[in-house]
Amino acid sequence: MRIVFLGPPGAGKGTQTRLLRARLRLHQIATGDMLRANLANGTKLGREAQPYVERGELVPDSLVIAMIEGELDRNAAGFVMDGFPRTVAQAEALDAMLARRGTPLDAALLLKVERAVLIARLSARWTNPRTGRTYNALTSPPKVAGICDDDGKPLVQREDDRAETVAKRLQVYDEQTRPLVDYYRKAGKLIEIDALGSIEAVTDRIAAAIGAATHSEAS
Ligand code: AP5
Repeated sequence: MRIVFLGPPGAGKGTQTRLLRARLRLHQIATGDMLRANLANGTKLGREAQPYVERGELVPDSLVIAMIEGELDRNAAGFVMDGFPRTVAQAEALDAMLARRGTPLDAALLLKVERAVLIARLSARWTNPRTGRTYNALTSPPKVAGICDDDGKPLVQREDDRAETVAKRLQVYDEQTRPLVDYYRKAGKLIEIDALGSIEAVTDRIAAAIGAATHSEAS
C-alpha cells in the first residue's frame, strides 16, 4: 500500500504516519525529518535547505524530489509519506516516479483541523530529534517532562515552531500545498479525515477509511 498524508502544519501527519507505519508495517518517508537530519549533520543538502526551513518556506522542488527519488529506489512497494508532496510540481513528479516503477499511489489522506487548534498544538509540541517522535505538553506529555519515554533522551522544541514562523508556514500551506486537495480529488484518490479528537480516535478513523477504500477497490 502506498499512501501520502496531506494537511497543514500541526494537523498530526507525523504522529499518524508513525502509528500507521507500525500498524500496517509500511516504510515511513518524512521529508521534514529527513531535512532536519541533514541540517543536524551539516550535509550539503542540509546547508542548502537550512535558510528555507528556518524561514518556514518550502525547500526548492528539485532538492526534495531528488531526495524522494532515492527513497523510492529502496521503498517503492509500500510506504506512507508525511510532508511530500507539498506542491503540484512535487505531486506530478511523484506520480511520474511511481508510474516508472509500476507502483501507483493508493490514497492521499487529508487531515482536517481548524487553525486555532493547529497553533495550539504546535506551540506545545516537543520532539525527540533522533527518532522524530513527538509529544504534546498539553495533550500527550511524556512520562517525565522534557525526556523521551522510548530512549530517555532530551526532547527539544523545533525552531520553526516559533509563532512568527508558524504563521509563515500556514500561509505557505494555503498558497502552495492546499491546491493538492483538488489535485488528488480529481485523481479520485482523496480521503478526508476529521483530525480533531484524541490521537487514538484519529488513528481509528484513518484505519477505517483505508479499510473501506481497500475493500471498495477489491469488490
Ligand atoms: P515538516 O516537518 O513536514 O512540518 P509540517 O508539515 O509543517 O508539519 P508538522 O511536522 O509541523 O506537523 P504535523 O502535521 O506532522 O503534526 P504532528 O504530528 O507533529 O516540514 C518542516 C519544513 O521542512 C517545512 O516548513 C519546509 O521548509 C521543509 N519541507 C518539508 N517537506 C518539504 C517538501 N516536500 N517540500 C519543500 N519543503 C519541505 O503534531 C503536532 C503536535 O500536535 C504534536 O505535539 C502532537 O503530539 C500533537 N497532536 C497530533 N495529533 C493530535 C491530536 N489528535 N490531538 C491532540 N494533539 C495532537
